[in-house]
Amino acid sequence: MNAPWKAGMPGNRDPFAAYVCDEASLDILRPVVIELGWMPEKCNKGGLRNAVQSLSVSASPNILMVDLSESGDPLNDINALAEVCEPGTVVIAIGQVNDVRLYRDLVASGIHDYLLKPLSASVLRDSLNAAQAVFSAPKSSDPDVAKRHIASAVIGTRGGVGASTLATSLAWYFATKKAKPTALLDLDIHFGTGALALDLEPGRGLADAIDNPSRIDGLFIERAMIRAHDNLAILSAEAPINSPLMTDGAAFLQLQEEFRQAFEMTVVDLPRNMLINFPHLFNEVNVAVVATELTLASARDTIRLLSWLKTNASHVSPIIVANKVQSNALEISKADFEASIERKVDFMIPFDQAGAAKAAKLGQAFVEANGASKATAQIKALGERILGAAEEAEAEGSGEGAKAGKKSLLGGLDLKSLLAKKEKAADAPA
Ligand SMILES: Nc1ncnc2c1ncn2[C@@H]1O[C@H](COP(=O)(O)OP(=O)(O)OP(=O)(O)O)[C@@H](O)[C@H]1O
Ligand SMILES: [Mg+2]
Repeated sequence: MNAPWKAGMPGNRDPFAAYVCDEASLDILRPVVIELGWMPEKCNKGGLRNAVQSLSVSASPNILMVDLSESGDPLNDINALAEVCEPGTVVIAIGQVNDVRLYRDLVASGIHDYLLKPLSASVLRDSLNAAQAVFSAPKSSDPDVAKRHIASAVIGTRGGVGASTLATSLAWYFATKKAKPTALLDLDIHFGTGALALDLEPGRGLADAIDNPSRIDGLFIERAMIRAHDNLAILSAEAPINSPLMTDGAAFLQLQEEFRQAFEMTVVDLPRNMLINFPHLFNEVNVAVVATELTLASARDTIRLLSWLKTNASHVSPIIVANKVQSNALEISKADFEASIERKVDFMIPFDQAGAAKAAKLGQAFVEANGASKATAQIKALGERILGAAEEAEAEGSGEGAKAGKKSLLGGLDLKSLLAKKEKAADAPA
């Protein structure tokens, strides 16, 4: 991110060079280097200073190992190295100081890895293999890739309306059926089900990101995210419920920024309370999927959410999705719901208990487990709309928020009249 060697492309360079201060370390390093098919002569005696000196007059290798042991101010010296190092070089530092803060600072300044002396062959091998993978991974610094990115956020108007079901299904659909590299960001930090739904362990990725926003970069993303499929990576947490969320939200912005570089699609499972606490989460979002049920409480909160979006995120296109619809047992009819929210419900997803149970049992996204269900057809149509809506917004240079009407959303609400209808419906013979 901030290191000049991260962004560039490889040229005609040596695959590897090392500058190591002591013979003992060199003795362990050389056989590993030979094993990897590189030249042992590239393992030089000397530390960071020597590396800076020789790289200032010669081409940088693809992978560079530098010994910080003789450096009084490793961070400063690393910056000097960055100045002479060509873009694209993956740098592994080694040293004697076992200090997490130093490690973090080094990683934040773009160092790929920090290995503690005494070195071991297996640690070296792992680190060099990982560095090679990073070096040969496609670099996504192409501005076109960033432009094409579509971020959608799924918000439930009430708890349990199926927001997470939609988020995982959409992410799965984009990743597998549309072959788009997709990130699923589950911001339900304590109770998220994104990973669980796909039968995965949530890992510590999101918790680490929240604790150390400055560490978030492309490499961090690569390591911290859990792969559900070739094209689908998840970042989530299952934070202990005795630890409150302590963040100013900087991590979320940074994550969205990195996702934009690394993926074509981001789907954010966005609990309502996160939106209240971190309104800037919407800065990078193109499409808001408002998941709701056709109930009185949901009508009220749909109105409030639409109003919030209009004020705070006028660039997003809200899509209203009624989920768990049981046409024979509606608290509020679709027409009344639409009248009260002063706009159409875009998608009606039927209640499908068997489908939900099947997905849970298989540990699959709803749409994966229930290819033929009517609910799946609606969710896929929603996916298509998101792809289309974002393109439209891009073309117009604005969202479709304007379509929501000019009248005040809150002003038109007559909850009492809805209630009266509801009571009448309840009174009516079955
Ligand atoms: N169309 C549907 N038909 C039947 N069950 C559904 C449907 N959609 C979701 N469910 C089920 O409803 C339950 C709640 O869904 P989900 O966890 O996705 O909701 P949520 O809005 O994310 O909830 P929370 O507020 O806890 O985050 C789950 O058991 C899910 O399988
Ligand atoms: Mg949820």
